[in-house]
Amino acid sequence: MKAPLIDPFARPITYLRVSVTDRCDFRCTYCMAEHMQFLPKRDLLTLEELDRLASAFVGLGVRKLRITGGEPLVRRDIMTFFRGISRHLGRGLDELTLTTNGSQLARFADQLADCGIRRINVSLDTLDAEKFARITRWGRLEQVLAGIGAATRAGIRVKINTVAIKGFNEDELFDLTAWCAAEGHDLTFIEIMPMGEMDDAERLGSYWPLADLRARLAERYDLTDLDQRTGGPARYVRLDQTGQTVGFITPLTHNFCESCNRVRVTCTGELYMCLGQEDRADLRAPLRASPDDAALQQAIRNAIARKPKGHDFDYSRGQVAGRVTRHMSHTGG
Ligand code: GTP
Ligand code: 5AD
Ligand code: SF4
Repeated sequence: MKAPLIDPFARPITYLRVSVTDRCDFRCTYCMAEHMQFLPKRDLLTLEELDRLASAFVGLGVRKLRITGGEPLVRRDIMTFFRGISRHLGRGLDELTLTTNGSQLARFADQLADCGIRRINVSLDTLDAEKFARITRWGRLEQVLAGIGAATRAGIRVKINTVAIKGFNEDELFDLTAWCAAEGHDLTFIEIMPMGEMDDAERLGSYWPLADLRARLAERYDLTDLDQRTGGPARYVRLDQTGQTVGFITPLTHNFCESCNRVRVTCTGELYMCLGQEDRADLRAPLRASPDDAALQQAIRNAIARKPKGHDFDYSRGQVAGRVTRHMSHTGG
């Protein structure tokens, strides 16, 4: 195997997130604008090109691939991509997975399981159908719950991702936790990050620090910190009374960048070395320049050599610092 990817801070890069489309059938208010300007289809890499790109990373030591969007399951023919890329499982790749809004899962769950997908993350911020329609701007909760059910029946483990939003889902903390325990899903809470165009006052007003959320959970459950890692940024606890696993992703109250192992590519072939920074490298030109991967691999190495230490997101002075104007959907989180 080629020399692995190591960044300037001695962090091995073993996790690639691949955003296969910037489109989504929802418009979560913290993620997208209501009227999004999507990329023209002609700017997208083909599925074959995305496969070649992701495969080049696997050749350079990436062991975990997470497919994201937008919503990855709205990209036409996406199952062809999953079937193809799954050939790396057990041959360099330990895990192939996706993060999805769940809307198309009922249709695709069995095929995803057939591609060797064992675990997926589904975004779900509320169990109230009216609130769900409000936060996603028009999504149907029922459709997502059906998708989660289909994935579970197909033998795929589901982790629910809930963005902690003050004044929106604070009152559902225990309902969400109990529902996940009853359904057998892991649950991870995420601090709201300052990306996209939500204005600063609204962003700050929505911010619910996970230290507070954790303290509220601890009023009802005994929490045991776990060493368990999934290769992502979450830190996990066990709720002793139910045995369930709850994760916390805390870019703002507890920066996890020092152990960062990941980079992300977009559907146009841009490589973002950090979610919270604007610097990016173009991989489309070296990808298209030659059918041989040498130039592409060199471009990847050059980009990893510029990976920054971390993001600058900060709300601690009562204002939003380190904001990134790019929408979260552009890089898939
Ligand atoms: P696991 O494999 O289950 O650990 O998943 P994951 O947390 O790596 O992926 P997921 O797509 O579920 O991401 C959950 C949240 O974590 C999203 O809001 C992402 O934007 C955020 N996230 C993932 N990686 C990073 C990162 O490097 N920096 C920051 N700030 N947030 C990240
Ligand atoms: N802050 C935190 N998480 C976000 N997500 C989307 N936008 C934001 C944001 N501004 C989450 C989605 C999904 C994951 C990929 O990122 O809810 O679970
Ligand atoms: Fe779509 Fe996910 Fe963004 Fe919601 S958070 S608009 S479901 S990409």
